Amino acid sequence: MPMITEHGTTVELGGAFYNPHTTLDRDLTIASLAAFDRTVDHLESYLDTFAATGIRGLRAASELKLAATINDRDTDAVRLIRQNIVSNGLESRCEVTNEDANVLLHQRRFDVVDIDPFGSPASFLAAASRSARKMLCITATDTAPLCGAHLNAGIRKYASVPVNNEYHAETGVRVLMGTIARALAVWDRGMSPLLAYARRHYVRVYTRVLKGVSSADKSMKELGFIAHCHNCGFREPVASLAPLIPDRCQICGHRMQASGPMWLGRLYDQSFCESVISELIDRESDKHAIKLATICRNEINVPTFYDQHLICRAVGISPVKIDGFIDLLRDAGFEASRTHFSGTAFKTDADICSIAGILAGSDVRTWAANRTKK
Ligand SMILES: C[S@@+](CC[C@H](N)C(=O)[O-])C[C@H]1O[C@@H](n2cnc3c(N)ncnc32)[C@H](O)[C@@H]1O
Ligand SMILES: [Zn+2]
Repeated sequence: MPMITEHGTTVELGGAFYNPHTTLDRDLTIASLAAFDRTVDHLESYLDTFAATGIRGLRAASELKLAATINDRDTDAVRLIRQNIVSNGLESRCEVTNEDANVLLHQRRFDVVDIDPFGSPASFLAAASRSARKMLCITATDTAPLCGAHLNAGIRKYASVPVNNEYHAETGVRVLMGTIARALAVWDRGMSPLLAYARRHYVRVYTRVLKGVSSADKSMKELGFIAHCHNCGFREPVASLAPLIPDRCQICGHRMQASGPMWLGRLYDQSFCESVISELIDRESDKHAIKLATICRNEINVPTFYDQHLICRAVGISPVKIDGFIDLLRDAGFEASRTHFSGTAFKTDADICSIAGILAGSDVRTWAANRTKK
């Protein structure tokens, strides 16, 4: 039978699902759990709700000494998980369950609930939000509905209207986070995002769960919409679930399109990311995981990013080196950073007029007017 080893844990794969490209995510899971336990709140129990081979839960038990409940509704997967627990000598720290995720999540509570299903996590968020005492780790592989490429599926799963534009990957993360915030709020709980990213064809979110109605109310205030102008690229976040959304772009007068509701608050807790990075380094984790966590730590806190190539094409100039351009924005007094969402993109608190001015000495109104005429 094929076998794989991750950080000292060896599992037989049998016929269960295993993706070697997500070792990075499991490394980040272990580092995030360790960072949470060390710097936020003590952790004892961890639920690997969709376990397949059990690799994630086994690693949590082996590397962090957590009491891991490893669940899958597939009986063949459960047989394999039992075998993998025994072969790693982790019987004293691991428990196996063979339940549908929603049944287990409504019956029991865990410090950490990890949701890693095939496709959308939407139908598990109500139960997961009830079950998790301290932390939620959520994967979504349905990026097309989240990002606006499959509009109706996104509306059905997330009750949100995403717009498929240059920053659609970030929209996907924010739509998922907004849905998690609403699911927690139903149980009078709030959330404080720790780390989130979009990679390959999935989104992963780590968030702290906060008790009480005031935390829930505070989270709900972080929800809102983004009004976007497809003509010149101007965008405006508007907090609130019943906002007054501008109809016309204040730069070029083109009609604005609204997307949301989604989470407009922070995606990362900088000091948590710092702890995750040091855990990753100490544990000799995948270097791509360290790079990803480092870019996330350095990202400035503004919703949406700009694609430099797109702006350069519109203005009619060749792209310049992204780091040099970020320095130019900073020299002009703006906040600016790279973003993990794209290698050609940047985040800034400068608006599109200032960006175009700095990039090309161009007045955005001139090229926006030309674009409207085309
Ligand atoms: C994407 S795989 C999990 C991968 C695993 N977490 C890892 O890191 O390798 C999804 C697993 O969820 C299981 N599953 C699907 N629907 C489920 C449900 N409603 N309740 C419990 N398990 C389910 C499947 O049998 C499959 O093994
Ligand atoms: Zn405009």
